Amino acid sequence: MFTDTHCHLFKEYYDDINMIVNNAVNNNVNRLIVSGCSHSENIEVLELKYPNVYKVIGLHPDQASVYEDSQIDFIKENIDKIIGIGEIGLDYYYGKEDIDKQKELFRKQLKLAQDLGLPVVIHSREATLDTINILKEYNVNGVIHSFSGSKETALEYIKMGFILGINGVVTFKNCNLIEVLKEIGVDKIVLETDSPYLTPVPYRGEVNEPKHIIDIANFICENVNISLNDLAEITNKNIKSLFDI
Ligand code: NI
Repeated sequence: MFTDTHCHLFKEYYDDINMIVNNAVNNNVNRLIVSGCSHSENIEVLELKYPNVYKVIGLHPDQASVYEDSQIDFIKENIDKIIGIGEIGLDYYYGKEDIDKQKELFRKQLKLAQDLGLPVVIHSREATLDTINILKEYNVNGVIHSFSGSKETALEYIKMGFILGINGVVTFKNCNLIEVLKEIGVDKIVLETDSPYLTPVPYRGEVNEPKHIIDIANFICENVNISLNDLAEITNKNIKSLFDI
């Protein structure tokens, strides 16, 4: 049994979410963690009603110039419906012009996660150093979503108690990530699709779905010396320790 620890199941991307959830279960991907990035998406996350769909809500760095504090209060008000706060973080690839606002929004949500005792799901793009330094200001743990950094960065995050979220990027030919996993092992990873984005090889060009967790898992097992069963066991153990599901 596998879990997709990070996907975006919204009407904007899928006509039939019911079918997407069924496709996942039929491919041995029994649990899904859906993540919101904006206030409107967070509302949509909370409306999903499937026993095997777990919920994470938060404000993505692309909201840094438009969010309102009431939208952070909304996260707090729904603590009984969520298992984590995300995706939150820093994005200097798209958002170089509002770095200070991104840091402020990131810190507010890290403080909330610390106060509520919830894990965080971190989005960090071209912002590794600032992400690490700000995370160190808080007593939080969680997942580094869509990790694709160096061996050194991986080991630093792991030392800080974080788990690496590995998705279809690991199958991309121009990506060094599988070499990093061969060196550091898979003890501190979870699997995610980031659906509808980042479709793994050989399905590039199609809309991604949680069912493709199995393709990501197969690719890792073919390259790192581990069985599918062992990879499922390790990743589910990490999910249990972080999210308590
Ligand atoms: Ni995402």
